[in-house]
Amino acid sequence: MSTLQHSMEPNVGASQLINLDSSDSHTETKIKIHSVEVETSTSPILPEFHGVMVDHEDIRVEPLLNDDGGISVTWEDLWVTVSDIKGRRKRIVQGLTGYAHPGEVLAVMGPSGCGKTTLLDALAGRLGANTRHTGDILINGRKQALAYGTSAYVTQDETLIATLTVIEAVYYSAQFQLPNSMSKSEKKEIAEITIQEMGLHDCMNTRIGGWGTKGLSGGQRRRVSICIEILTRPKLLFLDEPTSGLDSAASYYVMSRITQLEQREGRTIIAAIHQPSSEVFELFDNLCLLSLGRVVYFGPASATNEFFTSNGFIYPTLRNPSDQFLRMINTDFNEDIEHGSTGKVAKEEVINILVTSYNSSDSHQRVKRQVSDICRKGGGSLETSRSHASFFTQCLVLTKRSSVNMSRDVGYYWLRLAIYVTLAVSLGTLYYDVGTSYSSIQPRGALLMFIASFLTFMAIGGFPSFVEDMKVFEVESCSV
Ligand SMILES: Nc1ncnc2c1ncn2[C@@H]1O[C@H](COP(=O)(O)OP(=O)(O)OP(=O)(O)O)[C@@H](O)[C@H]1O
Ligand SMILES: [Mg+2]
Repeated sequence: MSTLQHSMEPNVGASQLINLDSSDSHTETKIKIHSVEVETSTSPILPEFHGVMVDHEDIRVEPLLNDDGGISVTWEDLWVTVSDIKGRRKRIVQGLTGYAHPGEVLAVMGPSGCGKTTLLDALAGRLGANTRHTGDILINGRKQALAYGTSAYVTQDETLIATLTVIEAVYYSAQFQLPNSMSKSEKKEIAEITIQEMGLHDCMNTRIGGWGTKGLSGGQRRRVSICIEILTRPKLLFLDEPTSGLDSAASYYVMSRITQLEQREGRTIIAAIHQPSSEVFELFDNLCLLSLGRVVYFGPASATNEFFTSNGFIYPTLRNPSDQFLRMINTDFNEDIEHGSTGKVAKEEVINILVTSYNSSDSHQRVKRQVSDICRKGGGSLETSRSHASFFTQCLVLTKRSSVNMSRDVGYYWLRLAIYVTLAVSLGTLYYDVGTSYSSIQPRGALLMFIASFLTFMAIGGFPSFVEDMKVFEVESCSV
């Protein structure tokens, strides 16, 4: 039973908009209440209290839909399969149903390999070529593509240009992502503010670094990736492991800054996350708990404990709850789990109990209702592609970035220049004064053949750097 004090007039009609002030969080949220049965009472302990006692199980809280251009994502009976080398199809994600609302954070959690990244890829429309999916993925209740700038995806693996500094990487990105109507100084300011928000001001001028050259730490690189993706302030943000490599304090600050933006700007956030601290866990509105590609639980993050205990899985109260329930549904390591009445049960059995219980629970029915409500209402139409820098500006910025990158990468030009100079001097010494007679034709031919084949092999030397550039290109072209 939760008590909500609110500024409601005594005879306010159902489904009328009211302001609720949740006493424990001190946040003010606009919600719509559907058919709620309330019991007004005068507390015997506090006679002056004329509050309304509301059982939160009875109310369906529904954030206002997308009048301001927010994005709701729903997925219904989503299956993703992948074909292996022998052509057999393996199920990665099995019959998932869920939703993500504007102004809310949906956390996707589960053991490694349970399908978190696959779910995010499917929702963002980035599944690989060998994967197939069935089921409905709807944006604001309609099948539609996400236009440029409306969504961003921070992938699990960073693809950053190792030779650039943090400010350069973010500023170059700002230059070609933000519209031409913004001046250079405005773009720089946005880049700097975003860097500050992610707590990277101390390493602004440090090179990112990568293979062979040490630069930023893993956690700092992660935050640079987030900076680049949130520059355009997208309405829908996918974050795949945004806190990996960060300590618990940094994870909390990063996630709280992201969630502050989400509350301020009505952004929809879907984050796959490993092992959040209890403070980070409290920032999540909804939780989608997966195991072996199936939903173990979908619903309010704060009600997860209740779900586990109601199914007979009780764990110590003074421990991080996410540690406990992730341990219960991890099938990679054999360990029997204590189950209320039956004693110890195997992990597979635990998952079966939880999945069956979730499928027959009220939470599941509520999720289905929410999905159909969102589909029915639809919501505001998606803004058409946001404006970004013109083609000419993009070419200019990318050429500049590429030149800076190549000039700083020793292997690109400088090493080759040194080899060419050495080779030219050696060949010049060997073939010095070769003459112009008929007998010089053969050595000249040999020299030309040698140079041609040498240049061909040297060109292959640029291939590793080209592969790195292609990775950056692939990620950036997906966001455009
Ligand atoms: N394109 C693919 N080809 C083959 N197998 C794949 C492919 N994509 C995903 N898988 C398999 O699907 C399963 C789920 O992968 P996914 O990357 O979604 O896991 P995850 O939950 O994100 O794990 P982690 O927490 O380790 O990132 C894994 O067993 C993976 O090997
Ligand atoms: Mg993953």
